[in-house]
Amino acid sequence: MSAELLLDARGVSKHFGGLKAVSDVHLQVHRGEIVSVIGPNGAGKTTLFNLLTGQLAPTGGDVCFLGETVNRLPPHRRARMGMGRTFQIAKPLIALNALENVMIGAFLHDASLSRARDKAMAVLDRVGMAHLAARKAGELTLSERRRLEVARALALEPKMVLLDEVMAGLNQAEVAREIELLRGLHAEGLTFLIIEHNLKVVRAFSDRVIVLDRGQLIAEGSADDILNSPKVIAAYLGAGHMGSGTELPVTETKEAHR
Ligand SMILES: Nc1ncnc2c1ncn2[C@@H]1O[C@H](COP(=O)(O)OP(=O)(O)OP(=O)(O)O)[C@@H](O)[C@H]1O
Ligand SMILES: [Mg+2]
Repeated sequence: MSAELLLDARGVSKHFGGLKAVSDVHLQVHRGEIVSVIGPNGAGKTTLFNLLTGQLAPTGGDVCFLGETVNRLPPHRRARMGMGRTFQIAKPLIALNALENVMIGAFLHDASLSRARDKAMAVLDRVGMAHLAARKAGELTLSERRRLEVARALALEPKMVLLDEVMAGLNQAEVAREIELLRGLHAEGLTFLIIEHNLKVVRAFSDRVIVLDRGQLIAEGSADDILNSPKVIAAYLGAGHMGSGTELPVTETKEAHR
């Protein structure tokens, strides 16, 4: 592929004591790609994201972004380089309104209050939430909170956005709207790495899929190849009825238990 290499994870690992949460994972993402990460609960998907964006330091391996090794850079430095992300368990500042939440991201590049406000407003408008700017984050619905997470990531002016289950708990209409938003952002030049349990989303919105199982990358390919792969089905079930469903079986989302 000739597109610019944005992210290059070279054999990254994260061990928590004896638990190998992520084991020697190699992953490349090029500009303009949409790559999905799937795998059963506890497979290491979120831990991998934390290694990529700097919430965790790797036990082994290197994370390179834009050709630079970023292992030692804290999350805000990686964000400034162009890594935006959302968190699986959204943590908006509930006492602040939607606009203020997005402004926090905008401040990363610009300390001016008025410019950060303008930038945040433009981002809220882009995600269809301008009318909710003054709403306290704690009063937003689940789907609005998820969108706010995306807006917070966008306010960082990222080159690449890592989304950790931003569709979890949304109904079909909300998922469709979310895909439309992400497609639009992709058309505008954004690159995506997404963790997603909803197979419809994976099929509709991935150039490439990688599968993690017990910390290891066990398969990589097109959505169709991956979702029909006996090895992948076995990783989830040991027997397969994965192809026709819309949810990966035996997986559950953390949001559902809140
Ligand atoms: N900070 C931590 N300390 C110890 N163990 C951890 C820590 N974070 C994650 N783990 C463990 O690492 C493994 C991978 O967890 P991770 O959250 O990355 O999985 P996941 O694929 O994102 O799962 P899910 O689909 O449920 O979100 C799990 O066994 C988890 O309990
Ligand atoms: Mg997770």
